[in-house]
Amino acid sequence: MTRGMKIAHISDLHLSGRQDRRQLGDLDRLLDHFNKAGFDHLVISGDLSNNADAGDWQIVREKLESHALYHWDKTTVIAGNHDLINLEEEMRFYNALNPLLLIRKKAFDRKLREFCCFFQKLITGEDGGDNGFPFIKIINYPSVQIAFAAINTVYPWYPAENPLGARGSITSGQLRALSQKAVLASLRESFVIGLCHHAYRVYDTNSLIDQAFDWTMELKNRQEVLGLMKGMHARLVLHGHFHRFQSYAVDGITFVNGGSFRHAPQRYSEIVINGEVPGSFEQKFVMLP
Ligand SMILES: [Fe+2]
Ligand SMILES: [Fe+2]
Repeated sequence: MTRGMKIAHISDLHLSGRQDRRQLGDLDRLLDHFNKAGFDHLVISGDLSNNADAGDWQIVREKLESHALYHWDKTTVIAGNHDLINLEEEMRFYNALNPLLLIRKKAFDRKLREFCCFFQKLITGEDGGDNGFPFIKIINYPSVQIAFAAINTVYPWYPAENPLGARGSITSGQLRALSQKAVLASLRESFVIGLCHHAYRVYDTNSLIDQAFDWTMELKNRQEVLGLMKGMHARLVLHGHFHRFQSYAVDGITFVNGGSFRHAPQRYSEIVINGEVPGSFEQKFVMLP
């Protein structure tokens, strides 16, 4: 009998160094639980670091290694805005030098490449290289074939247009890459799971203050992202960024917000994919015992 395939999803760790021993202990406990509970794969949907510090990526890597989870087929990580943008630094540079935006864009691209190089082993399975977004992982489990399709939705800080560095966008290059016929054909036999950092759905209340807040956090071209996910026949899209554990459906696709490990380190999202009934799955939020 096949038991299905189990995914654990966490997000928004916002680590800041090694001083917070309690937080690091919580991470150990969670990873240990994932192993004991027989999870097949872990997804971390961005904001590993709070201040775009590679030292925090290193902590995540060490923790994954110490729990034997630092393997291509065991864990997938993507970057969040807090991994790539240090807001204070952006403001300082901007106020002091008022540099050309092109220079900031180049610095952002460098940081994104640095993230991808750092986690290359989880992107391609190889140690060296600088392959980045988008990427697809197709993994065969006894009961089902899974395809993770990861996109980067973080885009550079701009003083007027992206003042907190928290708005999201997908580049046309990524859209094009994942819309190619050969790519779509390669996904046909798989249960497809889209991964991105930003939320499709923002709070969307009628309050003006909330609307202003939504604007600073929103995924600008979310219709394009939705169209891409539909084109790939994704059943699920896993994201973070809003620090809220929630799931919602849009046009037949279930979006899961993995909340925030920083704020609720005992909580995570569990997804079980039933290989016997094509396309069927169950998702729930779980509290550690
Ligand atoms: Fe976050
Ligand atoms: Fe974020």
